[in-house]
Amino acid sequence: MTIDLPVGLPMPRNRDVLFDPAQRVHVTRRRERRFPFPVPNGWFIVACSSELAPGEVQAVFAFGRDLVLFRTDAGEPRMLDAHCPHLGAHLAVGGRVEDDCIRCPFHGWRFDGESGACTEIPYGGANHIPKRAQAHSYPTLERNHMVWAWYHAEGEPPFYDVPVVEEFHDPDWQPILVREFDIAIAAQEMAENNVDYSHFRYVHGTDGIPEDEFITEGTYKRAVGQGGNFVREGYGLGLGVLRVKGWVTFLSSTTPIDEEHVHVRWVFTTPKANGDDALVSAADSFCDGVSQDIPIWENKIYRPHPVLTKSERPILEHRRWARQFYSAYDEDIPTTTEEDE
Ligand code: FES
Ligand SMILES: [Fe+2]
Repeated sequence: MTIDLPVGLPMPRNRDVLFDPAQRVHVTRRRERRFPFPVPNGWFIVACSSELAPGEVQAVFAFGRDLVLFRTDAGEPRMLDAHCPHLGAHLAVGGRVEDDCIRCPFHGWRFDGESGACTEIPYGGANHIPKRAQAHSYPTLERNHMVWAWYHAEGEPPFYDVPVVEEFHDPDWQPILVREFDIAIAAQEMAENNVDYSHFRYVHGTDGIPEDEFITEGTYKRAVGQGGNFVREGYGLGLGVLRVKGWVTFLSSTTPIDEEHVHVRWVFTTPKANGDDALVSAADSFCDGVSQDIPIWENKIYRPHPVLTKSERPILEHRRWARQFYSAYDEDIPTTTEEDE
């Protein structure tokens, strides 16, 4: 089956593209990677809280790694590298939760969910546990009805926090609605979209190029548009909180699957005063919007030295900001646009 190429300016809106990979257009076929970045360091959603019951075990693939996610009997989410340090079984395939630990299905070794240390080798009279019997563990936390894991390429501890989105806990706001889908794009490229003001007119067909303010402070960033009514805050690469005054608040999370793919979770709420239909219609409208970006994103490449106009300087600022989230990645980011020269 051939898929028709989209006709753009603006790009067509087709929400089905998000949830049906068969409707995606992929024509870029070069063999080199499209994006040069490694997986960024940061907090990423690995499950919805409601989908992980105590004692439950899940296989997760994220950060280019096979992972096992489980909830302890006491209710804590825990995440380890999936393959057992002993003889390599996948801990999610038959492994069982015991108190704070997971027991491997292959030979019954038991690993602590928080430290990853082996706490028991149940046979052979082993009276001491070798130091190397240690699974790599990931810091986890639970916030905004989601389970988050901290990824750091060098195993360093978290250097920023996940904000509480107050509306998700406010009785005047609707219970959350989650939409999730995959996109073949690097997290940084997806985030760059927010400071790429001119694309709003040409991809999305919005009236004008929004006049925006864009600031960065350490690991935090904020973009404001539509006369102060549309505020997008970013915490690291892959966690955004968007608020359109009086209409919708949503948390936008992009979990890197690997260097070139992300799993997106959008968590929406709307004021109850806006009626029951407001929540679905707000979610639909953002899904319609991103359906216009997806064919561009899934076929574009990264230009390290782009030709830019003066008004596009925030793109360079965003790239410099994003660099702090990578281990072992360097890039010579231009400091001026073509027009400045
Ligand atoms: S492979 Fe896990 S206990 Fe042997
Ligand atoms: Fe966009």
